[in-house]
Amino acid sequence: MTKKILVLPGDGIGPEIIAEARKVLDKVNAQFDLGLEFEQGLMGGCSIDACGVPLSDETLARAAAADAILLGAVGGPKWDKLDRAIRPEKGLLKMRSSLQLFANLRPAIMYPQLADASSLKPEIVSGLDILIVRELTGGIYFGEPRGIRTLENGEREGFNTYKYSESEIERIGRNAFEMAMKRNKRLCSVDKANVLEATVLWREVMDRLAPEYPEVSLSHMYVDNAAMQLVKAPKQFDVMVTGNMFGDILSDAAAMLTGSIGMLPSASLDKNRRGMYEPCHGSAPDIAGLGVANPLATILSVSMMLRYSLNKPAAADAIELAVSKVLDQGLRTGDIMSAGMKQVGTVEMGDAVVAAL
Ligand code: IPM
Ligand code: MG
Repeated sequence: MTKKILVLPGDGIGPEIIAEARKVLDKVNAQFDLGLEFEQGLMGGCSIDACGVPLSDETLARAAAADAILLGAVGGPKWDKLDRAIRPEKGLLKMRSSLQLFANLRPAIMYPQLADASSLKPEIVSGLDILIVRELTGGIYFGEPRGIRTLENGEREGFNTYKYSESEIERIGRNAFEMAMKRNKRLCSVDKANVLEATVLWREVMDRLAPEYPEVSLSHMYVDNAAMQLVKAPKQFDVMVTGNMFGDILSDAAAMLTGSIGMLPSASLDKNRRGMYEPCHGSAPDIAGLGVANPLATILSVSMMLRYSLNKPAAADAIELAVSKVLDQGLRTGDIMSAGMKQVGTVEMGDAVVAAL
């Protein structure tokens, strides 16, 4: 049976890294007889330029009909001054929310070959393997009412609403417990239950789910402490589950523990595990078009796509092994470069992964 993949290269380095990910996909598609078919679409700044909005109804409909979506990155200075309602980021948020991609998986894995690239001491990060499960379609990112209003005294006030319903907490919680079951069976739920009621309920629901997963040991941590523990003793974590905004922040910190955000993939899944896959990093406008961006996060996102949405674990394993081999060969893009290694560009890195496959 054929599977349809919608590819959205986006802006900045997006098209360059997607081109390499496509080479890898074409290779495994043939090697493992996956029957994948590809379509291309516009999202982000390129879509604003072409049709005035960051995500058109047409692209959204094609995304809804696809078996998986592969995204490069969106945004850039060219579109930063536009009205907030049509910025590139809005396209991303609309995609997440319209397709109900509520479960955002962000692994932070330290490749032993890159131990020197981290800003933390090797003994603190070597062997690191954390999975952050971030709620992606609720919380303060989407809570209403929101806006900027003028008060009676003429002063302006910005306001947002932080809320989570029990069912929203429950579905992300179940997802996280299930992920923990497949890993080291430790789940840390991150909240701010000492201050925020929305997260008092969050904690209560996590505790209520725990007896259904007796093999998983559940712990709770306040978000400020979690930020500290991530840089102090990150290996204490296996799976972390948290809300949209805390997850946004903690996943950037976790990413950097591994040396480069250029290595980290992500998946955003709906309740049927259909999803959108993208690197954790942004569109890096400063290096766009230079051919130096690291394509490995996007290539590893392809591997997550094969694993989670397309149920092709052998092809996913093959890609991860190929990436590891290329690192063993000493090939490095600028972001992960260290002494004695061979610096390569985006295309050479993509070609090397294809060759290793
Ligand atoms: C991310 C990004 C997005 C977010 C932005 C671009 C809207 O930072 O995916 O982490 O805040 O979710
Ligand atoms: Mg972010």
